[in-house]
Amino acid sequence: MLIKRGGEIKSGEITDRARYLSRRAFMAGAGAVALAPGVAHGASAPPAGHPLAATHNKAFDLPDAITKFQDATTYNNFYEFGVNKDDPSRLAGTLKTRPWQVQVDGLAQKPRTFDIDDVLKMAPLEERVYRLRCVEGWSMVIPWIGFPLSALLKRVEPTGSAKYVEFTTLMDPEQFPAQKKGLFNWGGLDWPYTEGLRLDEALHPLTLLTVGMYGQVLPNQDGAPIRVVVPWKYGFKSAKSLVRIRLTSEEPKTAWNKAAPQEYGFYSNVNPKVDHPRWSQATERRIGEFRRRETLMFNGYDQVAGLYSGMDLKKYY
Ligand code: MTE
Repeated sequence: MLIKRGGEIKSGEITDRARYLSRRAFMAGAGAVALAPGVAHGASAPPAGHPLAATHNKAFDLPDAITKFQDATTYNNFYEFGVNKDDPSRLAGTLKTRPWQVQVDGLAQKPRTFDIDDVLKMAPLEERVYRLRCVEGWSMVIPWIGFPLSALLKRVEPTGSAKYVEFTTLMDPEQFPAQKKGLFNWGGLDWPYTEGLRLDEALHPLTLLTVGMYGQVLPNQDGAPIRVVVPWKYGFKSAKSLVRIRLTSEEPKTAWNKAAPQEYGFYSNVNPKVDHPRWSQATERRIGEFRRRETLMFNGYDQVAGLYSGMDLKKYY
């Protein structure tokens, strides 16, 4: 991945953990467990920053401190807006998140195009705190809001020959300046951004279809209005601003794998023992911390190990 030097995080004056938690307490105090019907069920588009309530799922709580909201929303990778960490937060205002549809098709008995507002009502929204480990060697801890991707996939009834799921980000150079040919185009990625999972990975209860974070509607720079979050894999597997989810029989081609196959494999499970050809993956810099910490196998999500039993994870990196 293109790693830019400099651009250190400035300690944010906005939401630290205490403030985030007190906002959550405030929302709960307002009787907001799974509330905000005006958001989840309303006809008009909830803007980024609008409160989005969800039931906090304690099962995923971590001992780690939550990353500052300010950091999670200003230190981003969203190459459609540019390669600098602050490009997405500076430029994401051009992304229009309504109307928005997600096509769910391919090897399915009931392929369908869903309106984003129907997706929001499809399953109860949960808040889950997950680690996010970028392949570049930094990490964050983010309280996401969403529901298991399996709930959406089951709606379309995958056929017996479906073995993989492909995710596609919106292609629109008017909204994503770096998709404009020749302008900011650094020639690295073949747009639209695509990613993929094996079907059993996609159906794993950890795989979260995500519409919010920090008690709010997902900010544009974090992949509004809908993205996937796969916490045991490097961050680039968690594709943003999805317009299509396609069931396939063959391993989908993915954007980073096409750009540099020897560096970015299809699986891309977080693995401290398999180094990137250009840097070690043994440790990581948690954004907001000074000292590097050890990277955990599967980013600490050991419950997925069974998905890979018998596989050589050095070969299937
Ligand atoms: N999705 C799209 N469409 N475009 C991108 O450039 N970057 C990926 C991933 N999803 C990316 C993307 C990478 S490299 C990371 S680390 C995460 O998004 C970052 O998510 P965040 O900015 O919300 O922390």
